[in-house]
Amino acid sequence: MAAKVDKNRTKFLLDEKDLPTRWYNIQADLKTPLAPPLHPGTGQPIGPQDLAPLFPMELIKQEVSQERWIEIPDEVRDIYRLWRPTPLYRARRLEKALGTPARIYYKYEGVSPAGSHKPNTAVAQAYYNRKEKVARLSTETGAGQWGSALAIACSMFGLQCKVYMVKVSYQQKPYRRVLMESYGAKVVASPSADTQAGKKILQEDPNSPGSLGIAISEAVEDAATRDDTKYSLGSVLNHVLMHQTVVGLEARKQLEKADDEADVLVGCIGGGSNFAGFSFPFLMDKLQGKNKRLRAVAVEPSACPSLTKGKYVYDFGDTVGLTPLVKMHTLGHTFIPPSLHAGGLRYHGMAPAICKLYDEKVIEAVAVPQVATFQAAIQFAKAEGILPAPEAAHAVRGAIDEALRAKQEGRKKTIVFNLSGHGFLDLSAYEAHLAGKLQDYEYPAEKVAEALRHLPQVKAQEARR
Ligand SMILES: Cc1ncc(COP(=O)(O)O)c(C=O)c1O
Repeated sequence: MAAKVDKNRTKFLLDEKDLPTRWYNIQADLKTPLAPPLHPGTGQPIGPQDLAPLFPMELIKQEVSQERWIEIPDEVRDIYRLWRPTPLYRARRLEKALGTPARIYYKYEGVSPAGSHKPNTAVAQAYYNRKEKVARLSTETGAGQWGSALAIACSMFGLQCKVYMVKVSYQQKPYRRVLMESYGAKVVASPSADTQAGKKILQEDPNSPGSLGIAISEAVEDAATRDDTKYSLGSVLNHVLMHQTVVGLEARKQLEKADDEADVLVGCIGGGSNFAGFSFPFLMDKLQGKNKRLRAVAVEPSACPSLTKGKYVYDFGDTVGLTPLVKMHTLGHTFIPPSLHAGGLRYHGMAPAICKLYDEKVIEAVAVPQVATFQAAIQFAKAEGILPAPEAAHAVRGAIDEALRAKQEGRKKTIVFNLSGHGFLDLSAYEAHLAGKLQDYEYPAEKVAEALRHLPQVKAQEARR
C-alpha cells in the first residue's frame, strides 16, 4: 500500500461522499460515566426539564446520550458540504525547515465560512433549534470565531442571533463584529448594559476587559428571560464536542490514505471542543484497548492554564453563577484571564469529558507562553503559507516542540495537529507581535488562588471523585 502513495503528495483529500454520516459520542467508551451536572440551588443532579429553558430537547438528549454513534441530519450534512471534507496536509516544508525526522500532518479547519472549526456545531445547533420552532439564539464569543459561526448558521436557518462579544476581543477584532453583522447578528461588547449580569460586573469594574465566563452569564440570562430565545454554547458541552468529531473522523480516513498512523495528536484547547473533535475519534481505539501508545496533547496558554494548573472540582460554567455546576478543571469562575490575543482560550474552565480523560491520564496537556506561540505561528506561515488564528497557533507551537524533540531523539514519529482556524481577522495581534509589543503574562497565581476561594460549596465535592 505504501508504494501507492506518491512520495511528494502534500494534500490528502476526501470526496463529498466520504463526509461522515454519524457523530462519535465518546460517552459510550468512558470507563465510568461523567459526574452529573448539579443544580446550583439544590446541589442535586439536574434533569432535562432544568435545561429546557436554555436548549432544545434534541440537544439535551444528545448531551446525556450513551449511544456511540448519532446520525447527522441530511440538512446539516448539506450545509457541511459547502466546505467539508476539509483537507489534511503533510507539512513537508515545515519538516524541512525544522530539520526533523518526524512526519508532520495538519488538518485544516480554516476553510469553513467562519474560518475555523466552529461552524461544525453552529450549523447543528441552529438546525435543532429551528426544528423546535425557536426564533432567536443568544450566545457569547471570545475570539469572534464562534460568534461568526453561529451568525452564519442562524442566517441559514432563519433565526435571529444576539452575540455578547468579550470586550477585549470586540476592541481587538472590529472586523469580526462586521462579519457577524453582515450575517444579520446583533453584537454587543460584554460586559454590556443589556443584562443584569453585565450591569453588575460594570458596577464593580467599569473597565472590565470581559471574559468568556462573563459573556456566558449575559447570554444565559438573555435566553432565560425571553420566551422566544434559547442559548447556544460554542464549546464545553458534550453535544458540542460530539458535533466536532467530524474533524477527527475525516482525519482518520485521510491518514489511512497517506498510509500513515498517528503517534502524537496535538490540538489547542479553550473550552475543549476543538481538541475533542479532532482527537476523540482516534482515542476511541485507545479507550477500547487498541493503539495504547497513541498520545494526545492539549495545548493551552500559560496565562490561562485550566488543565495544567486548575483544580478538578465542581464549579460554575459562567462568572456570575447562573449555570449548573459541572465537575471540571477550573481556575475559579470569578477568575478574569489576562487580555491574551487568543481570545478563544480565555476560559476559566474546561469540558468535563476532557477533564475526565486528563485525570485518567488518557490525554496530556502542556501550557505555552504567548510570544513563543506567535513565533511558532510565523515560522509555520513562512513554511506552509497559512497564517494561523492565535488559538490555533498554540497547536502549532505544540507540534513544533514535538517535532524538535523527535529531532533530538532521532525518532521518526508521526505528528498530526489540528490547525483549527486562520488568522486573517487577527492581524492586529500579528501587528503587535511584529512590532515586538506582545508580552508574556506570568501565570497569575495570586488571582487564581483568590478565585479558587470563591468556588461554590458542594457537599459531595470530594466524595464524587
Ligand atoms: C480558531 C480557534 N481554535 C480553537 C479555539 C478553541 O476552542 P475550543 O473551545 O473548542 O477549545 C477557538 C475558540 O474560539 C478558536 O477560535
